[in-house]
Parts: sequence; structure tokens; C-alpha cells
Amino acid sequence: MKIKAAEAALAHVEDGMRLGIGTGSTAEEFVRLLAEKVAGGFRIEGIPTSERTARLCLELGVPFRSLEELPELDLTIDGADEVDPQLRLIKGGGGALLREKIVACASARMIVIADETKVVDTLGAFKLPIEVNPFGLLSTRRAVEKLASRLGLSGEIVVRTASDGPFMTDGGHLILDASFGRIPDADALSSELNALPGVVEHGLFINIASLAIIAGPAGARVLTAR
Ligand code: A5P
Repeated sequence: MKIKAAEAALAHVEDGMRLGIGTGSTAEEFVRLLAEKVAGGFRIEGIPTSERTARLCLELGVPFRSLEELPELDLTIDGADEVDPQLRLIKGGGGALLREKIVACASARMIVIADETKVVDTLGAFKLPIEVNPFGLLSTRRAVEKLASRLGLSGEIVVRTASDGPFMTDGGHLILDASFGRIPDADALSSELNALPGVVEHGLFINIASLAIIAGPAGARVLTAR
């Protein structure tokens, strides 16, 4: 299904585009298909949203530049952990949310590629990733808990770990994973989190995606914001 979504997204990529390239297993399928097109003479300039994606591009021969070199992009194609009917997303399961959001917002359009399991009525079953500065970690976590409680949200908020200690993002930050379960007002939570010192970015992507390509066993369908 991930490959089907990636194939459908490839049809939106035009020769010569400056292309944001997402992170995660679905985005990786997209990179593989893109690499085949590039090998056939198709020209793009890619901007990877993580070191992991940059390594894959290098390995597969997909040309890429930095966002400093190409600050305005035509299109970003990326996966998501959850997609709601307004095309609001939870992202960051792979820990790349900060660069993913910067790259998507530097793009004229963002297309989400996902399988049916990612579509939800209300965001929040997936733990919301919140990228925080290591300085003042406990104070920031407490502040997140307080603001969540003001918004009627509860649930465990834990520091993400890797096999060798705390998970570190490409930007050298930590991630808090918040198990809210259900986020009835994602817009309010997004604005409140944005206002908290110590929070670098969060995984709610609101008014960013223009289209979602959702693949199921019967093929791919397109979602536009309701
Ligand atoms: C990476 O940080 C994430 O935002 C991914 O885009 C998201 O977790 C989707 O990943 P999969 O395609 O692996 O499900």
C-alpha cells in the first residue's frame, strides 16, 4: 500500500522541480521510485527532511541540495502518522518533525502519502511527538502537562528513548511523546504548544498539507481538505 501511495504521488512530480523529500518507510518507497526515474534521465533537486533520507538519496543516486541553497520549493512529498478529514496531520513518529515542517512550509504544496491505517476522524491515538530543547526538559514537560490539562487533555508524556539512551533529533533536541488519546481541538493545542518556551516544534501539521494520497487494498484515493 505504501508503494501504491508513493507511485501515485510520483505522478505529481514534474521535471526540474525543487522537491522536499520526506522521512519514514512510506517516504522511502517514494525515494526508491524517484531514484528509478532519475536513473532514466528525470531531473529534480531534492531537499531531504532528515539525515536518514539524505543517506538514502545518496545511496540511490537521487540528487539533493540543502534548504540554504534552495530556500523555496515546488512540492514536498512526505508520510504521516495520522491524517484527519481536514488534512490535519500528526507527524514525527520517525523523529524528523522539525525539518519536515520547515521543508513542507517552504514548499508551495505538500502531498501526504499514507495507507488507510493512518486515516482517523480525530487526531490523537498516535502519540503526539513534541520536540524540546534538552535544557529545562522537566520544566518544559511540566508546562506541557499543565497546558494539556487546561485543554482537557490527559495522558502520559514520556521522553523518547533509543537503544543507547534518549532519542536525539537531527537538530540535537529531545522528543516528548504525549499519549493524549484524542485531541478534539488540535488547532488550540498547536497554538498553545507553539507559545511554550522550550518547545522547539510539535507534530501537529495544520493547514500545511494540500492533498493526501491514501492507499488501500483496492488502490489509491485522494483526499482534499473538507
Ligand atoms: C517521520 O518523522 C514521520 O513524520 C513520518 O513521516 C511518519 O512517522 C510516517 O512514517 P511511516 O511512513 O514510516 O509510517
